[in-house]
Amino acid sequence: MSTDPGIEDVTAHRAQVLADFAQYLNPQKVRVMKAAGLDLIEADRSGAWVEDIDGRRFLDCFTSAGSFNVGRRNPRVVAAAHRAIDSLDHGNFLLVSEQTAALAAKLAEIAPGDLTCTMFGCGGGEAIDFALKLARGSTGRHRIISTVNGYHGHTGFALSASGRAAFREPFEPLMPEFGLVPFGDVDALAAAVDGTVAAVLLEPIQGEGGIIVAPEGYLAAARQICDDAGALLILDEIQTGMGRTGRWWASEHFGVEPDIMTVAKSLGGSLVAISATIFSEDLREFLIPNPFIHLSTFGGSDVACMVALEVIDVIEEDGLLENATKRGAQLHAGLATIAAAHPDQVADVRGLGLMAGIEYAEDSMGPRMSFHLAQHGVLAVYSGNQPSVMRLMPSLVASESDIDHLLTGLDAALDDLVHGRGLPEEPSSGRTKRRPPRGERS
Ligand SMILES: Cc1ncc(COP(=O)(O)O)c(C=O)c1O
Repeated sequence: MSTDPGIEDVTAHRAQVLADFAQYLNPQKVRVMKAAGLDLIEADRSGAWVEDIDGRRFLDCFTSAGSFNVGRRNPRVVAAAHRAIDSLDHGNFLLVSEQTAALAAKLAEIAPGDLTCTMFGCGGGEAIDFALKLARGSTGRHRIISTVNGYHGHTGFALSASGRAAFREPFEPLMPEFGLVPFGDVDALAAAVDGTVAAVLLEPIQGEGGIIVAPEGYLAAARQICDDAGALLILDEIQTGMGRTGRWWASEHFGVEPDIMTVAKSLGGSLVAISATIFSEDLREFLIPNPFIHLSTFGGSDVACMVALEVIDVIEEDGLLENATKRGAQLHAGLATIAAAHPDQVADVRGLGLMAGIEYAEDSMGPRMSFHLAQHGVLAVYSGNQPSVMRLMPSLVASESDIDHLLTGLDAALDDLVHGRGLPEEPSSGRTKRRPPRGERS
């Protein structure tokens, strides 16, 4: 670091952060990020964009897997957070809270069908854990069916439902009575669901699985199969919800209402940790004899609820559902053109609204394309369970020119890949930029 207290030597600062992260967290994570050109360190975050400590600007198309629907540090949400912090804290979790009640009431308004009751948590895995507890508790059945390559988080019940063996196997035995079926296969689901099944857990669009949109009729068939067997349908809208696909919930595209829905990520407006498991009043019966059967000290904290309420208002009042639809159409049209121009590199493009995926011809292209895209000012990461697929999930505040930037960058990155241009550099390759401290930047 520079001895001048107002000025940072960015190259040294970056090297130090990477070294500290490697030493005190995980060196392999640093290596993986470096190999994919993603060893950038985020500094200024604003709307659809992020600037790293080197002063490079990126259109954020990862958005923490769909966590920044209202944009990063949306000014209205930041102001709501300031107001909340000025007068509140996270609250006493055992007591009745005005802020928590207000958010639950608002969620009841926007949730599908008769889902009017909420249990709050801090993260997506916690929301899934409670959804599965509620399903078992209220049906008195044990079996849970989820899908191959599905992703629901790394906590206990959620991990047991994970569709990827590499995440589950080191910790087995996990929860008993969990089974997997291929996503989109109605016959396999029908064969798996009988009178012992408490719930079927599905993402309307598999996110980590590679942006796989539920095939036509699949969710409706799942609804029917569950109804016939007396099982519950849980839809995990943690990536797909909060307007990502142009509707509040992706399930609306399919005309299907779940019994339980999980929400997290974007509910926190890029600022706070909050998740919600939303369910119908008849399922709430299970919680009446013992309202303390599931507790979370930080879940649905007073401050987080005030932030989430503002997030919902922003999505409604700033027309972000409409923008997701419009910008999604622009993105998908552009992706189709790029796919046609690069038939040897692009196997498929797909998605709904601003949840898009581009499937490359081979797995190794995922990390290589992350690298090349970063060179063109686009931050994009391949799917966790499917490295050949890159997720493109910009914030719902993205403008027409932002989507143009993404498409131009993607085209140029594919060109670089084809021509073998721009191989990875050392992170501290002599580039030193002086940058004033945060408070003094305009
Ligand atoms: C569909 C889905 N469900 C659950 C989760 C888990 O959420 P969290 O990481 O907040 O526990 C994720 C996270 O990416 C997700 O994409």
